[in-house]
Amino acid sequence: TWTTEAFVEESIREIRAKIGDKRVLLALSGGVDSSTLAFLLHRAIGDQLTCMFIDQGFMRKLEPERLVKLFHEQFHIDVAYVNARERFVDAIAGITDPEEKRKRIGHEFIRVFEEESKRLGPFDYLAQGTLYPDVIESADTNVDPQTGERVAVKIKSHHNVGGLPKDLQFKLVEPLRKLFKDEVRKVGRSIGLPEEIVNRQPFPGPGLAIRILGEVTNEKLNILRDADLIVRQEINRAGIYHDVWQAFAVLLPVRSVGVMGDQRTYAYPIVLRCVKSEDGMTADWARIPYDLLETISNRIVNEVKGVNRVVYDITSKPPGTIEWE
Ligand code: XMP
Repeated sequence: TWTTEAFVEESIREIRAKIGDKRVLLALSGGVDSSTLAFLLHRAIGDQLTCMFIDQGFMRKLEPERLVKLFHEQFHIDVAYVNARERFVDAIAGITDPEEKRKRIGHEFIRVFEEESKRLGPFDYLAQGTLYPDVIESADTNVDPQTGERVAVKIKSHHNVGGLPKDLQFKLVEPLRKLFKDEVRKVGRSIGLPEEIVNRQPFPGPGLAIRILGEVTNEKLNILRDADLIVRQEINRAGIYHDVWQAFAVLLPVRSVGVMGDQRTYAYPIVLRCVKSEDGMTADWARIPYDLLETISNRIVNEVKGVNRVVYDITSKPPGTIEWE
C-alpha cells in the first residue's frame, strides 16, 4: 500500500542515487507542488539544492515574505529571494491587451530566471514539480532522443510561454512525477507544510497582473493587494475558504461617482469574484451569504483608498471565465 512515509523514503533514495554530488536548482512558486519538492530535495541532498523565488510583484499581500520565512524557520531551507518587482511592472508598462501582458510576463520570467541561475550556478539539474497528469500531457516532447532522459524545455511556472534558451538546458529531476495532486497534498501535509499552502486556492502565474484590467501600475497593484487581503480575511473568517474554488478581487480601470461623508468621490470599483468548481473548466458563481457580501463591501470601501464601490460577479463559466483577463 502507498504511504506518505514510504514515498518520502523511496524518493530520497532515488534522488541521492540520481544526483550524486551534482547541484540542483529549484524555482519556488509558493504552491504545494514546488514546496513539497523543495522539502524532499533538501532532505535528500541538503546544500546541493538551491531554491530560488522570483518575486514578480504580482503575488498577494505578504505572501512572498511569508514563504521565505516559512522555509527558513520551519524547514531550515534558505531561499534565494529575487526582488524583480520593478522589472516586471516595467515589462508590462502601458500594455492593456491581456495576452500581450501574459506573454511579456512569461518572457521576463525566463530572462530573470536565466540571469539568476547563471549568477547562482552553475547547476546540473532543474527540479520541477511535474505531476503524473503533466507527464502524460508532455510524454514525447520533453525527452532527449539520445539518452531517453527528460530534459527541461520549459519551466513549469504557470506561464504558458517561455521556452528555455538553447544554452540553458538542464537535466530534470522530477520526484513527484508519479503522483496525483491529492497525493502531493498528503505528502505536503505529512512533512509539515501549513494548510495555507497545502490547500491553497489556485492562483495564476501572472497573478494580480491579470486581475487589474488593462494597464498595471504600482498604484493599482497596491489597491488590489489591499482589497484582496480583505477578501481573503473575510472568506476565511466565514469558514468558506475550502468550500469555494477561488475567491478574489479584480480591479476595473474605470471610475464611478460615490459619496463619503459629505465628500463626492470618483474612484475605482472592485469586483468580487467567488466561484465553485471541480476542476476550473466549468464554474458556478458562489451563493455566498449577503451578510458576508456586506462585510466585504463595507471593509473594502472604508479601508482601501481609491475604491468607492464593490460589485459581485454573478456570471458562471461558461460563458464567463473565472479570471477577468
Ligand atoms: P479561466 O479564467 O480560464 O481560469 O476560467 C481557469 C483556471 O485557470 C487559472 N488561470 C491561470 N493559471 N496561469 C495560470 O497558472 C494563467 O495564465 C491562468 N489563467 C487562468 C484560473 O485562476 C482558474 O483557476
